[in-house]
Amino acid sequence: MNINSTVIAGYQALNNIGYLLSGKQNVLLVTDKNIVGIPAVQTLIAQIADNVGTLHIINTVPPEPSQHDVAAIVAPLETHGIDMVIGVGGGSVLDVAKLLSVMCVANAPTLEALLAGEKPHTRTASLLIPTTAGTGSEATPNAILAIPERETKVGIISPVMLPDYVVLAPELTTSMPAHIAASTGIDALCHLIECFTATIANPVGDNYALIGLKKLFASLETSVAEPTNLAARLDMLWASYYGGAAIAHAGTHLVHAMSYPLGGKYHIPHGVANAILLAPCMRFVRPFVVSKFAQAYDLLPEANSALSEEEKSHALVDYFVALVKRLQLPASLDELGIGSEHLPYLVEAALDVQRLMKNVPAPVSADDVRNVYLTLFPAQNH
Ligand SMILES: NC(=O)c1ccc[n+]([C@@H]2O[C@H](COP(=O)([O-])OP(=O)(O)OC[C@H]3O[C@@H](n4cnc5c(N)ncnc54)[C@H](O)[C@@H]3O)[C@@H](O)[C@H]2O)c1
Ligand SMILES: [Fe+2]
Repeated sequence: MNINSTVIAGYQALNNIGYLLSGKQNVLLVTDKNIVGIPAVQTLIAQIADNVGTLHIINTVPPEPSQHDVAAIVAPLETHGIDMVIGVGGGSVLDVAKLLSVMCVANAPTLEALLAGEKPHTRTASLLIPTTAGTGSEATPNAILAIPERETKVGIISPVMLPDYVVLAPELTTSMPAHIAASTGIDALCHLIECFTATIANPVGDNYALIGLKKLFASLETSVAEPTNLAARLDMLWASYYGGAAIAHAGTHLVHAMSYPLGGKYHIPHGVANAILLAPCMRFVRPFVVSKFAQAYDLLPEANSALSEEEKSHALVDYFVALVKRLQLPASLDELGIGSEHLPYLVEAALDVQRLMKNVPAPVSADDVRNVYLTLFPAQNH
């Protein structure tokens, strides 16, 4: 897959984006109601408005958008003549911006057609600016939507949605509350470690994953503890971007497959659902990916090179357990007050995410999936 967007990164990178907009007459900026209020975003919007003909702003994207949310945004929109779509936000906003970029062209597929698998052929010019770190949506061909009727999420996937331009500006992420910086950072970690160990892993994706893991291991906890540490925030934007690039070349597996129903059924934010599943899923696949886990372990600042590969692979799983705890994220569904009565549904829905289940680097049965979910209910004694 080709992901050659132009990436502009660094503190004050936003000061130099005027030339990306030159000649644009009719620009659609997609964001959400929290992000639009951030002072650095208001400065950015003023700068964009100064450099384009007409700027339309949509600030109604909800977290974890559903197909109905996107339909409600598209319905009143005059899509004709839009020559650029800009997304400024977390994965929820960027995914919607990517969809709008392929829906604001002549003869565009409808949302229903995209959900049914029709592929877009073209899009408007596009610029994606993440404010979480994160989903890496700016580097993936995916847009993820909740489908309330099925209580799960689906991915609309096309490389056409990859943007022309990406700006990684750490000053836009400093306003994230600590729990969002932590949970979105765990999402990036899941992308990196899952892609690195997927059945479809390959040297290109591995390269991105290893660079991203090294940055993430060095900076995730610092960036959560010190919101204004711009160096750590920029490292996390890169880790997230590399996670997205790894997805574009390989793909996630068990954590993401099992997390979609948790998001769809209980509306648990994506990063939080992944944090709950990270260690149990990695414990399950560990025996099948010992060498790769040892390679990832070696990137930890505190790595002990004297350990055997087998010991390193166990130590990586232990690190995941401790990391989720140190970041004060939930490690079970018990902690969220969720009962285990929906287990049969969860197992069936996770197995149904075949796009990701086929990437799991281990034979995985319904009983295996059920046993991993069961570990999320430690207080409910099964
Ligand atoms: N396209 C992909 O490849 C991909 C990959 C993983 C996840 N996703 C999807 O992305 C969505 C989740 O995205 P997310 O984890 O980035 O969260 P999000 O975009 O839903 O944002 C979470 C919350 O944080 C707020 N927020 C975002 N940036 C902020 C900032 N700088 N300061 C203050 N508040 C801020 C938002 O307003 C929102 O309330 C889910 O729908 C998930 O399924 C997509
Ligand atoms: Fe994700």
